[in-house]
Amino acid sequence: MTRKPDFHVPATEDFDSPHALFADLRGRCPVAWSNDLGGFWAVTSHADAKRVLEDWRLFTTTVQNVVPPVATTQRRPPLHLDPPDNIPYRNAILRFLTPQRLEAWRPRIATMVARFLDPWVAKGGGDICADFSFLLPIALLAEFFNLPPDDAERIRMVGSEFNMALQRQDLDTLRAKSDELYDIARSLIEDRVAHPRDPDTDPTASLLAVRVDGQPLAPDLVLGALRQFLLVGIIAPTTFIGSMAVHLARHPEDHAQLTANPDLVPEATEELLRLYTPYRGFARTAREDTELGGRQIKAGEALAIVFTSANRDAAIFADPDRFRLDRPARDLLTFGRGPHMCPGAPLARLLLQEVLRQLTTRTARLTLTAEVEMTRWPEYGPLRAVFNATPR
Ligand code: HEM
Repeated sequence: MTRKPDFHVPATEDFDSPHALFADLRGRCPVAWSNDLGGFWAVTSHADAKRVLEDWRLFTTTVQNVVPPVATTQRRPPLHLDPPDNIPYRNAILRFLTPQRLEAWRPRIATMVARFLDPWVAKGGGDICADFSFLLPIALLAEFFNLPPDDAERIRMVGSEFNMALQRQDLDTLRAKSDELYDIARSLIEDRVAHPRDPDTDPTASLLAVRVDGQPLAPDLVLGALRQFLLVGIIAPTTFIGSMAVHLARHPEDHAQLTANPDLVPEATEELLRLYTPYRGFARTAREDTELGGRQIKAGEALAIVFTSANRDAAIFADPDRFRLDRPARDLLTFGRGPHMCPGAPLARLLLQEVLRQLTTRTARLTLTAEVEMTRWPEYGPLRAVFNATPR
């Protein structure tokens, strides 16, 4: 259905312009319709975003899970299934993310961050996205899934091309790259079937070992889940690390404060996750006609949960555009809420805290040397951000 639009998705954006647009929408029209990107409601306030995320009976993920929609006939659990069907897939990886297991990751992550960051700092900086933040999450994912080095390299190439095609809305390439990611997932499953591993130490073996009512999960859904796991944890950390670096360059006083007080890093990471929330286009579809934020939503219409906006809602966060370490408990939506809340959040936090710690202890100053190139929906953050890095 074509409605009169409340806003247009801009053709070009800079680091600040999405926040200006969302502040305007929160003020005049917090649930706002756009005819762009396939037609969708942008849910920009914290309260409405929370309601949509929690009311999974009314707002399903099974139809369209991102804005813009990515045409695909295949379902990828757990995100593409409503409860309770999504739960076994979540549980298969949640067992690897207990506090005890995460503690074991801490030193490995520190080594990994140094491996990629040290050369970047030593050469005086460069594009932090291409040279550092795209390499690091894939390296972590490869270790997490016990991937052979060749597969990790292939995911790096294909994941990058997939992301570029998504940015350009080049649907043919997007489908081709998605198929390649499926091929990687399929060969990983074939390998684990041929050479069984312990489900307690290998996430793919864990997925294969799940039983529901005594039955294994459907093979096409196991494949879809693995394909989702291989990409979903890569893109957000990549863009978000770029945003952290842009913040440090624009606010050398915050950089200096963290250099002098590394204990503040966990708190600072939370505040940066609030300010530069990397996802704005995870979607739901209304099952029935309903009302949200004073607007009439029709059954079948898509809603984008604009996490990037909800986390700057002044109704929840006083002085929302400022970096403040003295906030009372934050009701952050960065990692979602409800039945699809990000299971990778604790691992992502460990990684991002370590990046911020090393960035602020290994460099004395970051200076942007060119205009930041931004990602588009469904993400927010730099696609390319070039810095001079002054080593300490
Ligand atoms: C900055 C880093 C990250 C951010 C901001 C982030 C954010 C999110 C959000 C907002 C969702 C919910 C989507 C929705 O409700 O529609 C989600 C889901 C998910 N994330 Fe993350 N994520 C991050 C990193 C990771 C990592 C490192 C992993 C893997 C280890 C991961 C795995 C997943 C999975 C599997 C889901 C789907 C969960 C489900 O449907 O039950 N994420 N993430």
